[in-house]
Amino acid sequence: MNRLTDKKIVITGAASGIGRAAATLMVQEGASVLIADLDQDAAARAAVELSDGAGGRAVGMAVDVTNEGSIATMINRAVAEFGGIDVLCNHVGGSNPKKDLDLLRMDLAEWDRAMVLNARSTVVACRLALPHMIAAGGGSIINTVSVAGLTGDTLQCAYGAAKAAVIRLTQYIATQYGRKRVRCNAIAPGAIMTPALRDNLPEDVISDIQRHNALDLIGDPDDIGWAMVYLASEESRYMTGQTLVLDGGLTAQSPIASSRRSLLED
Ligand SMILES: NC(=O)c1ccc[n+]([C@@H]2O[C@H](COP(=O)([O-])OP(=O)(O)OC[C@H]3O[C@@H](n4cnc5c(N)ncnc54)[C@H](O)[C@@H]3O)[C@@H](O)[C@H]2O)c1
Repeated sequence: MNRLTDKKIVITGAASGIGRAAATLMVQEGASVLIADLDQDAAARAAVELSDGAGGRAVGMAVDVTNEGSIATMINRAVAEFGGIDVLCNHVGGSNPKKDLDLLRMDLAEWDRAMVLNARSTVVACRLALPHMIAAGGGSIINTVSVAGLTGDTLQCAYGAAKAAVIRLTQYIATQYGRKRVRCNAIAPGAIMTPALRDNLPEDVISDIQRHNALDLIGDPDDIGWAMVYLASEESRYMTGQTLVLDGGLTAQSPIASSRRSLLED
């Protein structure tokens, strides 16, 4: 219950899905959490609901991570509200699967949009939060990426490339600010059952993913939320520049393993 006592945390995209689950666990563990989301009403509702339980507290506000001024307002609000920032979670991301196809058919405007939503937003938020972390003697940055940034796939070229950019950016930030005691890690979820997954992936693709991972499961938002609690806490004080993959074993196994599974059965 006290893994994050006194931690001041900013998390974007936390009004629903994985972000909301992470914010819930963080408040339960004693943190003060700024829930920043494009959906202002949902962020405000989430903050009220989360503050209702024991532990820390939550504040909700609107942010559009594609807008630099809006990110600046978010960082300033966290500093004004909590007195600083210990943990920044750059959690918003995605692309439009109807426009983000294979290279030849992809809408180039969607490539630009995905780069802004996933990568530029992370760069801007880190640049604004880092001076506060350095002044306070350190901090932890957590970037949500995806297994799509680790391998190739048939569709969503822009999404995968943008998440790969954030994975490498994570290592650069870890390298450049480690001596200031700022850690920077990424979390790469596989398929996690959220509104975004339900809206964007057809049933047959979801069951295909399940069939091709080692654990035969689709993840819950809490599976990622607990990893975010770990990276936000001092339990991970010796970890930086890493990408923690939580995908049920999808990327751990050989691509042919799922079709040879009968060899394991007795
Ligand atoms: N769900 C999965 O299976 C999965 C897998 C891999 C990676 N991810 C990553 O996890 C993150 C969140 O995914 P999710 O499934 O929880 O999504 P979600 O759609 O359930 O939640 C996303 C939240 O972000 C908010 N948002 C959208 N655009 C925004 C913007 N411009 N500024 C601020 N807030 C904005 C939405 O209002 C929403 O509350 C993304 O970075 C995504 O790429 C998810």
